Amino acid sequence: MSIRSKLIIFMLVLLTAVSAVMALLFQQNELSSISANSQRKNLQILLAMSEVCKEMSATPDKSYAYRYFKTFLKTPEIIQVSCSGPKGRVFLVDRYYSPQPAPFAYHFKTFPPSRTGIWETRSDNGVEILKASLNSLNAKKQSITASVDFSTQLIYQEMDSSLRRSSASFFIILSISFALGCAGALIITRVIFAPIESMAEGARIIGSGRLDHKIPVTSKDEMGRLASELNSMADKLKEVSDMKRDFVSSITHDLRSPVTGIELCSDIIRRLAETREYGKIPEQLVSINEHSQRLNSYIDSLLELSKIESGKMTLDIKAVNLEDLADRAVRAFKAYAAQKGLKLEFIVNQDIPDTRGDPDRLYQVLSNIVGNAVKFTNSGSVSVFIEAEPGWQKVRVCDTGIGIPEGEAGNIFGKFYRINHGKREYPAARQGTGLGLFIAKFIIEQHSGRIEVESAPGKGSVFTVFLPA
Ligand SMILES: Nc1ncnc2c1ncn2[C@@H]1O[C@H](COP(=O)(O)OP(=O)(O)OP(=O)(O)O)[C@@H](O)[C@H]1O
Ligand SMILES: [Mg+2]
Repeated sequence: MSIRSKLIIFMLVLLTAVSAVMALLFQQNELSSISANSQRKNLQILLAMSEVCKEMSATPDKSYAYRYFKTFLKTPEIIQVSCSGPKGRVFLVDRYYSPQPAPFAYHFKTFPPSRTGIWETRSDNGVEILKASLNSLNAKKQSITASVDFSTQLIYQEMDSSLRRSSASFFIILSISFALGCAGALIITRVIFAPIESMAEGARIIGSGRLDHKIPVTSKDEMGRLASELNSMADKLKEVSDMKRDFVSSITHDLRSPVTGIELCSDIIRRLAETREYGKIPEQLVSINEHSQRLNSYIDSLLELSKIESGKMTLDIKAVNLEDLADRAVRAFKAYAAQKGLKLEFIVNQDIPDTRGDPDRLYQVLSNIVGNAVKFTNSGSVSVFIEAEPGWQKVRVCDTGIGIPEGEAGNIFGKFYRINHGKREYPAARQGTGLGLFIAKFIIEQHSGRIEVESAPGKGSVFTVFLPA
């Protein structure tokens, strides 16, 4: 069952439960309020009756009281009214015909007693009667008792019909609210699930390989955010997939060129041997050696990457001296820098003690950073500084080279990431796997250190390696 159907069922169950509870509460409430109203009305009748009795007992003219009594008796529930004086004499009694009531829809408990007067029920020829009487003193200080007999059946009948009336209107309102609630639930689930369904469809299309598909972002709420997140995820996937494609095409080209070089050189050597021109052979051997070195470094980088990804890169920690390592790295690139006409200098401003780390891995990091500096600089200098600050030892590599475009500084530490500097004068930039800084960052982080980069495009870059002292 879909989440949408589950949600609709849940909302309907909730609506039904709420309606049932409301109906129950309403009935209870209405019942007690109708009972209280009826009681108040009957008490008012008794009080009015008592006033009439007091008046009547004090004057000889009973005709006006009689008219009042007649009026009382027009109320259907009243069966009998009477007044009695000090000697128990009944001044006036009347009786009213009590019709048999219809059966009730509601069940009423016994009629709630009032605190004023005496209220008691009795049965008279099968008719249940509620007798209310009230004692008071008239103007001549004589004790007067006013009594009213109500038919409980008729009281209940009156309560029953007023409860029926209010229940009918309540249930009409409740049904309308329930219908509106159901419609609301359907609309809400539609509104919530329409974008989810569109996102599911979008994710299916993206999953099928169409990474340039865009999921429509129709709102600025959580759904809108989710859609834009999915879109940017697809963008990232596309970026990675493009990068992989570029990498595969460039790595095959990069791997092929040294292999072709080796093949060519060995062919030349073979021919030189045939023609016995042995003097030209060493030159070709140097070339073969260079091509093999390049090939080896590509393969090394790829192997390192697979080690990192499979979690198998381990460090052989011992005492290391950063100055010695940096010195070695600088010397390794002396010839390359000289060939490019660059000044490569190594500046140690203060002696720094040994620290702990994996010397081979740290050398690998420094030689990549110094190598990059030389590779991406065509004129000026590359300077390597050894520095210390509390808690840290630093190697700072400054160059006056091509620089890193704004916004790219964070990307260059990514796997296979190489900036398309788009300049013909940096042919070396096209060589390399784009793995050097990724591996360097990983190694330095394994040593609890960090690498920072600052750069001004066209002016140069500064890479600083921080190692815990
Ligand atoms: N000093 C620098 N000046 C300008 N750009 C740099 C510098 N150092 C690195 N970069 C940029 O960062 C990218 C990534 O460097 P990284 O060392 O990871 O790869 P690479 O040098 O291209 O290849 P590899 O190190 O595997 O031979 C480089 O391709 C280059 O575009
Ligand atoms: Mg590099």
